[in-house]
Amino acid sequence: MSVKKIVKYGTPSLREKSKEVHKISKKIQILIEDLFDTLYAQNGVGLAAPQIGENLRVFVIDTGTDQKTMNPLTFINPKIIKKEGAVNSYEGCLSFPEAYTNVRRYKNVKIKALNEKGKPFILEATEGSLLARAIQHEFDHLDGILFIDHCRNRFEADKILMEKGLNPIDSDYILDEKDLETEIQNNTQQQEGKKVD
Ligand code: NI
Repeated sequence: MSVKKIVKYGTPSLREKSKEVHKISKKIQILIEDLFDTLYAQNGVGLAAPQIGENLRVFVIDTGTDQKTMNPLTFINPKIIKKEGAVNSYEGCLSFPEAYTNVRRYKNVKIKALNEKGKPFILEATEGSLLARAIQHEFDHLDGILFIDHCRNRFEADKILMEKGLNPIDSDYILDEKDLETEIQNNTQQQEGKKVD
C-alpha cells in the first residue's frame, strides 16, 4: 500500500501500551501491508505498528535476506507463552537510526498470535536466533519497551545514543534483568572453559 514514516525515539507514543485488535478489518489489513512495505523499504527485520504511528498490537517480521528466503510473518495480539535461557547480542531498531548496543535476551521463546487472516498459530524460535530476538524486540514495542531498556552496559549505550544525536536512556525505563545477566555471564564462562579444554 504505502511506505510510512517511521516514528523516531523521543516520540512519546513509542512508550505507550498498544491496544488489542478486535477484528481483522480492512484498516488492519492495510496496516499490515504498510508495515511490510515500510519494513522492506528500510531493509529491516521487524517492525511494530506503533513505529508507524498506530498503537495497536500488531507486528511483522521477515528474517529473509532475498526474494528466495523471504518469510513474511504477521503477529496480531501476540502472547509470549514460554521464554528460557539467555543470550546477549548487538541490536538496533528502525526508530533509532544507526544506533546499535549490546542487550540481554531470552535464548528460546514460544509465541502465540493471530496471523493476517485472524487464524491462531504458535511459533517457537530457539538458540538465540535472529527470529527469537526479533520476536522479543517487536513484542516489546507493543508495551512501550525499547531495546535500550535491555542494555548490558548503560554507559556504552548512552555514549552510542549521544553520538547519534539521540537522548540518553531514561533511568525509569531500564529493566532489572539480574537473572538474565547471571546466566549470560555463566554461559560465557562455560564457553571460555570449553576453549581451554
Ligand atoms: Ni524496534
